[in-house]
Amino acid sequence: MSQPNQRRVAKSRHDYQSPAFCIDNIDLTFELDPKATRVTSVMQLRRLRDSEPLHLDGQQLQLVSVAIDDIPLSDTQYQLDDNSLILTALPDSCRLTIVTIVAPQQNTALEGLYLAGTTFCTQCEAEGFRRISYFLDRPDVLAQYSVTIIADAEQYPYLLSNGNKVAEHFDAQGRRVVRWHDPFPKPSYLFALVAGDFDVLEDQFCTQSGRNVSLQLYVDKGQGDKGHFALAALKRAMAWDEQRFNLEYDLDVYMVVAVDFFNMGAMENKGLNVFNSKYVLADAATATDRDYFNIESIIGHEYFHNWTGNRVTCRDWFQLSLKEGLTVFRDQEFSADMSSPTLCRIDAIKLIKTAQFAEDASPMSHPIRPEQVLEMNNFYTVTVYDKGAEVIRMLQTLLGKQAFADGLTLYLRRHDGQAVTCDDFLQAMQDASGVDLTAFARWYSQSGTPELSVSQQYDASTKQLRLVLQQHTPATADQAEKQPLVLPVKVELLIPGAASQRHLLTLTEAVAEFNFVNISAEPVVVWLEQFSAPVKLHVNSSDENLLYIATNATDGVARWDAMQQYWSRQIAQLIKGHPLEALLPDTLFTLLSQLLAQPGNDTALSAELLTLPDFDTLAEQYAEIPVDAIIDARKQLSLHLANCLAQALLNCYHTLGCEPYQYQQDAAGRRHLRAVCLHYLALLGREELIRRHYHQSDNMTDTISALQAAQQGSAVLFAQLLQRFSEKWYQDALATDKAFSLAATDPTEQVFSGIEHMLQHPLFSWQNPNRIRALFSAFSMRNAAQFHRADGRGYALLQQTVAKVDAINPQVAARLVTPLLSWRRYDAKRQSLMRQALLQLSQLAAISNDLYEKVSRSLN
Ligand code: TRP
Ligand code: ZN
Repeated sequence: MSQPNQRRVAKSRHDYQSPAFCIDNIDLTFELDPKATRVTSVMQLRRLRDSEPLHLDGQQLQLVSVAIDDIPLSDTQYQLDDNSLILTALPDSCRLTIVTIVAPQQNTALEGLYLAGTTFCTQCEAEGFRRISYFLDRPDVLAQYSVTIIADAEQYPYLLSNGNKVAEHFDAQGRRVVRWHDPFPKPSYLFALVAGDFDVLEDQFCTQSGRNVSLQLYVDKGQGDKGHFALAALKRAMAWDEQRFNLEYDLDVYMVVAVDFFNMGAMENKGLNVFNSKYVLADAATATDRDYFNIESIIGHEYFHNWTGNRVTCRDWFQLSLKEGLTVFRDQEFSADMSSPTLCRIDAIKLIKTAQFAEDASPMSHPIRPEQVLEMNNFYTVTVYDKGAEVIRMLQTLLGKQAFADGLTLYLRRHDGQAVTCDDFLQAMQDASGVDLTAFARWYSQSGTPELSVSQQYDASTKQLRLVLQQHTPATADQAEKQPLVLPVKVELLIPGAASQRHLLTLTEAVAEFNFVNISAEPVVVWLEQFSAPVKLHVNSSDENLLYIATNATDGVARWDAMQQYWSRQIAQLIKGHPLEALLPDTLFTLLSQLLAQPGNDTALSAELLTLPDFDTLAEQYAEIPVDAIIDARKQLSLHLANCLAQALLNCYHTLGCEPYQYQQDAAGRRHLRAVCLHYLALLGREELIRRHYHQSDNMTDTISALQAAQQGSAVLFAQLLQRFSEKWYQDALATDKAFSLAATDPTEQVFSGIEHMLQHPLFSWQNPNRIRALFSAFSMRNAAQFHRADGRGYALLQQTVAKVDAINPQVAARLVTPLLSWRRYDAKRQSLMRQALLQLSQLAAISNDLYEKVSRSLN
């Protein structure tokens, strides 16, 4: 049945109103039962504004009773609808007791209280608490929580909630009763409860002030051995935040629970993080180097939220980037210090240039601080998170590392225990640094990708260099008018015969020029070093200069970026019909051969330099995306490189050899370069090599590399190896997800039967977001050739999947639909097929708010 129209009203950022009541304390009692869990909530209320009713949020709740100061209300004394419970004529302060019943077993949306397998678990961000009890479910209502959990003692030996455990006993019926108290006032989105049986890993961390914190990691029974890396990463994160930002943990216990059913990566609930098991469990046999990296980064991310998010939280959900942009920035800095700053930066840049630029160009375009929101879950986006982190990074660049750290310290001290806004954050940064941030603040309100055009003029007679910078932001779906932004542009001047110079140019107007004197010879300019601002760069440098930068820039990121520009340009030429052989100069092969001949030096960067930009990066360079041409040109160029470099690739491959697995930066770099060599060699049909790579592998990283090489090079071998791989990991869900993704990224038409086949796998479940993403996000986001088939078969598959998933888990459905939203960027034929798919989705009788918001924005 269709939702009533009143539910479809979007909220605007400007309509913020502070709450009419505050809730100082809440005492919750849960009697856990999969079918019917009874939740008793006792709240101490205080009126903040006269004569307004109390408007509590609640969804999918069965109301049992309401009492004020222990006097039960009859059902004429309150108003109840699908989304709220309204109480009028309340005293200025009172105790409100509400009893509700919820059904965790029916909860497939995985918001509120649900069952992850047999484990009870909650997810409250953004607006999930209202599915547990009636409450002021908004981040600016901070309460102290006491929680009592009552459950069958045998089935649920561990009953967890936020803060400190204050009591444990058995009741008259032999049930286990555990009581928790969290001394830190918090918004409802940070509440958590977990109940189940686990393997528990324990450790300790001694803080800089000498307090001992007990660390506890809870994973499914039998998986304990796979938790050690995450626990060690947690200790590294705790030490790092003390060293870098002088921030110390504040409770006596820090718990991390891994569950199999989870909508996102992880959740920073106070003192009780809940993680997708994918981002906790790792050993050499089942996790890749990339998995290890992600685990460390997400463990860090959730830990860092304890200050940036929990101690200081958001006033309203429009301010989400206040905690997410800042915390992503912090986790990136942590990862950089734990592994390679260059590779971490390259990763972050790739994400912005693909997913984030695409989002800016899509119907869902929004500033990092959105203006209009229908379903908050739709705004946990690469824009809010990752562009948000770029904005924080620009602040650090503009203010300097020390002033930035001082600003963060001031922000946290000034607002500890409060729910604040992005403006409060900027104010603290401004006060600490003395730098006026009025103009910079525009980054928070303006959406879209700025385009930066640059040029240089050198006068040999005066030895002067002039750099001209010009910015322009094209209109986006949500915002027609754009203004100039503050752009920190780092440059390196590579001066022949002299030391290079590095400068920070700050562009504040539409156009500006910067003059340099005493430059002894015409320099090659490395523009936008470190991707110092999230913009599209237009620069007219020659191929020759790009290769010069790729060889000579001081910074590895700049070398990679120049190489990417170079590759993109050759692919663009191919698309225009230029013959391949004429394109590639000897200097290119000299550079590449050198990279392959000396794999000892920075192998990870060499691997990145040798890798062509992916489909999505290339697609961003076109207003109308020439799907087939991009795929063909990219293939042609890869094959040509493989042919020209065959011997060097093979030598490099053998020089690197295979080594016993250890997750460690240098070793991971060698595995990566070796995989890149194998990938090219696979295009030449080197099946024996792939087979051997697969069989020699003692770790998941090399195994997956072999499978990926086979996937591109040889359909028969791919089918054989994937079959073997699936059988080996038949019982392991996370490894089976890798088999699902491999099947779904098969570039041939076999992909459809492959997906069909995997749907029959006993571990596939429409209830489990990891399974759905492993198959269908992989297909729609990493298999352009088949997803964008001209016959529309790919679009139809995604449409049917989204329709099915929307009835089960709207959050997952709304993320899955993303690739269809940008239909306007394709040719007429594809446009009409994609639009057709969206139209069908828009007609779903019970379409969720999540899916409705995206589909309707796209069709309007
Ligand atoms: N705040 C979480 C993080 O950034 C992410 C998050 C938001 C989330 N909503 C969620 C996680 C819903 C799981 C489910 O780490
Ligand atoms: Zn976060």
